[in-house]
Amino acid sequence: MIDRVLVFDTTLRDGEQSPGVRLSLEEKLEIGKQLVLLGVDIIEAGFPISSPGDFQSVNMLAKELKNVTICGLTRAREKDIEVAAEALQPAERRRIHTGLGVSENHLQHKLRMSREQALETGVKAVKYARQFTDDIEYFMEDSGRADLDYVYKVVEEVIKAGATTINVPDTTGFTYPNEYYHLIHGIMSNVPNSDKAVFSCHCHNDLGMATANTLAGVLGGARQVEVTVNGIGERAGNTALEEVVMALFIRKDKFGIETGIDTTQLLPTSRLVSKLTGMVVQRNKAVVGANAYAHSSGIHQDGVLKERSTYEIIDPVLVGAEKSEIILTARSGRHGLKHRLAEIGFAYSDERFEEIYNNFLQVADTKKEVNEDDLRMLVSR
Ligand code: KIV
Ligand code: ZN
Repeated sequence: MIDRVLVFDTTLRDGEQSPGVRLSLEEKLEIGKQLVLLGVDIIEAGFPISSPGDFQSVNMLAKELKNVTICGLTRAREKDIEVAAEALQPAERRRIHTGLGVSENHLQHKLRMSREQALETGVKAVKYARQFTDDIEYFMEDSGRADLDYVYKVVEEVIKAGATTINVPDTTGFTYPNEYYHLIHGIMSNVPNSDKAVFSCHCHNDLGMATANTLAGVLGGARQVEVTVNGIGERAGNTALEEVVMALFIRKDKFGIETGIDTTQLLPTSRLVSKLTGMVVQRNKAVVGANAYAHSSGIHQDGVLKERSTYEIIDPVLVGAEKSEIILTARSGRHGLKHRLAEIGFAYSDERFEEIYNNFLQVADTKKEVNEDDLRMLVSR
């Protein structure tokens, strides 16, 4: 049976917390519109109490965007919740995302509260937020390093208080996939009222495991993923939207889970976010990197030109790219060169081709890549 996972995009909130990123109101709206086109279910538009600019942008997205839930982040404080509710007021569908830390580390050093005080504060916040909307998400910051029995207790109580989505953040990117799977699975099987809420994976990438952990959480029973475009976010970033979506798509055989994402919008969205945030996407980035569908060695080019699936598990057209690319380098072979010559419409005899190929190898040894101008020069010699 095919199941559905909700995509909660936090590019404009956790993503914008990337050092060096600041988006204007207009830029946030442009990204918001693109996220709707992409088909995300929930947009976390900002943290309304944090600044007048954040309030305005959450408010503007709430006014302008349709067919999507707009979410605002708050601390577990009445004033935060009131301000978020006001910013979200015009939204067709609104969600308040409140919560606080659950690990001993956060309780002791950051919140300076006992477990009981923190639990009471969280429960009160959920009850307070419920007067503004029925859609309440509760985050348990630093769940990845927290005591499980305490996590189970918090989940049970905040669901009783009215939370409808439970966010289980691995705030510091500390967990590994098997552990995160058991965290989600453990909550869902030990908390008596867990069937009353949707569980959400929110992973950070400090050890490069955010995507793997998120997918493990989905296998553990979570049905919401919190992601950012290109994986931007605090420190090493958040889980990359495009990676999770394509992993679920390509490995439908194992996950049996769908998203509402139009995958052909992945690359346009990635490019827009990169342009507006100034966060360059590394060339070898999975799914949306410039090299993700480029082949440079002779062996791979030969395979791909005979049958694309020999070295590509994702058809680039699926993510909105035009086609796979054959990049000519010193490691390329005759097959790749012939392909590129055909692309520029050049016809040749076998004898002439050998001459071009030998010249090509000489040029290739002096350059990182033999481009179209070089090819034209080679054939005109
Ligand atoms: O990483 C985290 O714990 C967060 C919460 C505020 C949801 O971003
Ligand atoms: Zn986060």
